[in-house]
Amino acid sequence: MSGGRVAVVTGASSGIGEATARALARRGWSLVLLARREERLAAVAEEIGAEWEMCDVSDQASVDAVAARILERHPAVALLVNNAGIPARGSYLDIEAERIEQVIACNYLGGVWCLRAFEPGLRAAAAAGGAHVVNVVSVAGTVAFAPAGAYSASKHAQLAFSRSTAALLRGSGIRVHTVMPGFVETEGFPQRTALRSRMLKRFVVEADRVAESIANAVERGKGEITVPWFPYRFVSIAQAVVPGLFAVFAGRAGYHKGEQR
Ligand SMILES: NC(=O)c1ccc[n+]([C@@H]2O[C@H](COP(=O)([O-])OP(=O)(O)OC[C@H]3O[C@@H](n4cnc5c(N)ncnc54)[C@H](OP(=O)(O)O)[C@@H]3O)[C@@H](O)[C@H]2O)c1
Repeated sequence: MSGGRVAVVTGASSGIGEATARALARRGWSLVLLARREERLAAVAEEIGAEWEMCDVSDQASVDAVAARILERHPAVALLVNNAGIPARGSYLDIEAERIEQVIACNYLGGVWCLRAFEPGLRAAAAAGGAHVVNVVSVAGTVAFAPAGAYSASKHAQLAFSRSTAALLRGSGIRVHTVMPGFVETEGFPQRTALRSRMLKRFVVEADRVAESIANAVERGKGEITVPWFPYRFVSIAQAVVPGLFAVFAGRAGYHKGEQR
């Protein structure tokens, strides 16, 4: 681990989290990577010279224990990236009840437990020059997307959490950034095969693009960003202006049956 400021990235064993860890390492951050799959996490960490800890962010006790160990080694944590997340493809009536609980526990509560657990480290870094929290939300946090209704609800909750903590911590030296990616091709979200709509597939981007935007948002102090901006910003505006109509329109798109999970 190099001598830069310390960043903790959750869900760093694949996809956007892994790409973000690599982007931050290139910028000189010292990283601590969190996720559940030991082999994958250790391999990424070794490649970029990071520390790693196995952690299930949906389990508050696991988060508290891991954060305590990390804060003992690194009393100041200058960046927390709340990225860990799972999909829930399929409607409220189709997917398993257990998945509806898991998606809230991981996508929404996971970030809450991490913020609370790392708060002392963030405050220490804030006192020494500034700290950042990045919440990787989703355009699904602004759109009622019926083909993945429970996922969408988890991201609406996470968006409210991110915006309210941004207001709560304003002036404290801890800056909260909200990042809203559109469709991104990753392991957990294989959008190019899972989505039925050819039109939507055209707007799928790679994880590296989101990772660069996350690093830029921190460096340039951007509070809230949509990645990519087009067409997703318009999608969020359409939902806000004509919510009922837009939700029906969006609901016509969806996932192939075999891809529901
Ligand atoms: N891909 C998209 O289209 C898209 C769009 C908008 C937003 N997002 C958001 O981006 C974030 C990253 O997703 P991704 O697309 O990069 O998917 P991904 O490749 O499946 O990565 C998800 C990461 O989260 C980790 N994770 C899952 N559950 C966890 C838990 N309970 N505790 C700790 N780590 C956990 C996974 O690692 P382990 O399995 O090893 O724990 C993995 O590292 C998620 O919050 C997702 O909602 C994705």
